Amino acid sequence: MRLISRLFDFPHPIRLAVRHKLRSRLRGFSREHYFNCVRRATEEAVALGHKRMTVIEFGVASGKGLLELEQICTWLEARYPIGYDVVGFDTGTGLPKPTDIRDIPWKWAEGWYDMDAENLRRRLSRAKLVLGDVADTVPDFMNNGLAAPIGAVMFDLDYYSATTHALTIFDSDDADAQLCRVYCYFDDLGSIEDIGVPSAISEFNSRNIRKKLKPNVRWQHHRDPYVLGWKIYEFHNFDHPDYTRLVRTEKPL
Ligand SMILES: C[S@@+](CC[C@H](N)C(=O)[O-])C[C@H]1O[C@@H](n2cnc3c(N)ncnc32)[C@H](O)[C@@H]1O
Repeated sequence: MRLISRLFDFPHPIRLAVRHKLRSRLRGFSREHYFNCVRRATEEAVALGHKRMTVIEFGVASGKGLLELEQICTWLEARYPIGYDVVGFDTGTGLPKPTDIRDIPWKWAEGWYDMDAENLRRRLSRAKLVLGDVADTVPDFMNNGLAAPIGAVMFDLDYYSATTHALTIFDSDDADAQLCRVYCYFDDLGSIEDIGVPSAISEFNSRNIRKKLKPNVRWQHHRDPYVLGWKIYEFHNFDHPDYTRLVRTEKPL
């Protein structure tokens, strides 16, 4: 009896795959990890009274992820009283030359993941594509392009150096620049903490005392390969004026 129940309880890969396929069919998008970040950000934004928020993908390449983000936002807009600005950042010409040993040059090479920007722009229905090196485009966007607070960010730039520049979106102390908590997905966590994206995250945490970018302790152990819980991080700004406002809508039992 115990064996049978364990067979049903065990998160069997086929069961997970079937569930994932069914969900994707029903909703029209498949990146559960993108969806979870945007949905969690949406619930908080709505509870805090926001009517609009910005959702970003860093590293667009052929555009598969950005097209999914558009669909996710359209799906959520039909269910929550909020609208989204969707923004994708990319060089437009694929990976630049690695500039630092922490960019893991034995794994990535210049020119990979190039994009057909004109074709992608035609396929996008609402997202804004910001082309150029993030070292230049991010400061410019934060000064001139941001219309609604940032609520969710998908980081998929592969490099330590590019991710370090992208993380400067959290440098602003303007309360309208980001929500007090921002839900982030990091695609490239596959190496040791001293190199790659993990080193960009730990440097961010060392240089900021009152802002932290950490994995959610509970989600870190979420091993479902379609949910990718261990790759979902939370940015917390302890000094944001909304940080202590109650967002939980139901009283616990
Ligand atoms: C793995 S691809 C992104 C894939 C995409 N997110 C998807 O899911 O289809 C990584 C992208 O990061 C971009 N990238 C890397 N370094 C960059 C930089 N310094 N500035 C802007 N884009 C950069 C590359 O152009 C490349 O398209």
